[in-house]
Amino acid sequence: MRRLPQLESRSAVYEDWPARPDDFEAIPLLRDARDRQYTYLRLSVTDRCDLACVYCMPPSGEDEHAIRRDLLSFEEAARVVSVFASAGIRRVRFTGGEPLVRKDIVRLVELVHRRTEVEQLVMTTNATRLSELARPLRNAGLHGVNISIDTLDAGRFSEITRGGDLGRVLAGIHAALDVGLEVKLNTVPLRGRNDDELGRIVDFAWSLGASPRFIELMPLGEGAKLPQSMRMNADDVLEVLGGRVSTEASTGVEGHGPARYMEARNGSGHRVGFITPMSNEFCDTCNRVRVTARGDIRACLASRRAISLRNIMRAGGSDLDLAWAMVWSLSGKDRGHHFLEAAEDEHERVGMSLIGG
Ligand code: GTP
Ligand code: 5AD
Ligand code: SF4
Repeated sequence: MRRLPQLESRSAVYEDWPARPDDFEAIPLLRDARDRQYTYLRLSVTDRCDLACVYCMPPSGEDEHAIRRDLLSFEEAARVVSVFASAGIRRVRFTGGEPLVRKDIVRLVELVHRRTEVEQLVMTTNATRLSELARPLRNAGLHGVNISIDTLDAGRFSEITRGGDLGRVLAGIHAALDVGLEVKLNTVPLRGRNDDELGRIVDFAWSLGASPRFIELMPLGEGAKLPQSMRMNADDVLEVLGGRVSTEASTGVEGHGPARYMEARNGSGHRVGFITPMSNEFCDTCNRVRVTARGDIRACLASRRAISLRNIMRAGGSDLDLAWAMVWSLSGKDRGHHFLEAAEDEHERVGMSLIGG
């Protein structure tokens, strides 16, 4: 058994796990015991954010942030991605916190693009800095962005994000479209906060040629503290959208992850996506693995168990050691998530920004 120092209080980093077996001599494709294959990496590049959405961050921000030397360096991040690519990862999503607050993020995207065999690099962002960064990111090899926008009303936006400027986000969305990034919009529906605007958000997205997606609130971090009455599931959203969406059949377009898409009823070919971790768990087809900004690999968003890839690298570990950690951490992955059990235990409540969504 190998002992690794316990470093992060908010992430239960394994101290003991089996040493790499002697016959582990080549990097295999990543599969788990339930035969799910992993082709998608969510790589968090920072746990900081310039906004503090009510369902994500405490009012004064998270109380614990990684300091610079805790974070994976760009070289370390590129190395991790390249080992993942050898193990079958084809798509990498940069996440946060807010990825665009990481200093020199464009250089990281460029480095990962140049060094690794990954087919598609994408990012999830709040877009506050996208009007300046869209062009350089596109040039660095980024293919698309998923942008969070919960309201089109500037006053409400400021309330939900605790001070955010809607104008900057709208400018960011337009900049992304102008430079040819693929754009999807993410909205968390909240009864009493934005439920009267969901149709308008759909029309806005469609007018730009972007797909709107609705994400059921997950009981992670601050999300676990919001009252039950604010939660809306996909059926609630469909009811609010009324005649806009055809409920008969999904489009058959599956995308790369948990979102399921339905078609516009007006025949325009537009779509609306639903991400339903609470009402319709999609874990059977899970294809994704996560690395936090500190370099912890997590097999599931809802699990705190992690292995520090950063520690392995800083202890002089080889690419095979990294691959073994990846294989081992996925091998014990549960069939489903345990959001509701975890939500009951306050210590288990690690917010989205500390994991990367
Ligand atoms: P694409 O399918 O590539 O567009 O990515 P995505 O929709 O998975 O990425 P995005 O970062 O936009 O995520 C949208 C929402 O889905 C966020 O709230 C994520 O936390 C959530 N999400 C993404 N993957 C998973 C997952 O495996 N499990 C759960 N429960 N939520 C997920
Ligand atoms: N439940 C659902 N979605 C969340 N997000 C952040 N926290 C939560 C939560 N508790 C969303 C953001 C962003 C995406 C990365 O995750 O709105 O669109
Ligand atoms: Fe996969 Fe966990 Fe997400 Fe379920 S909640 S889809 S198991 S990462």
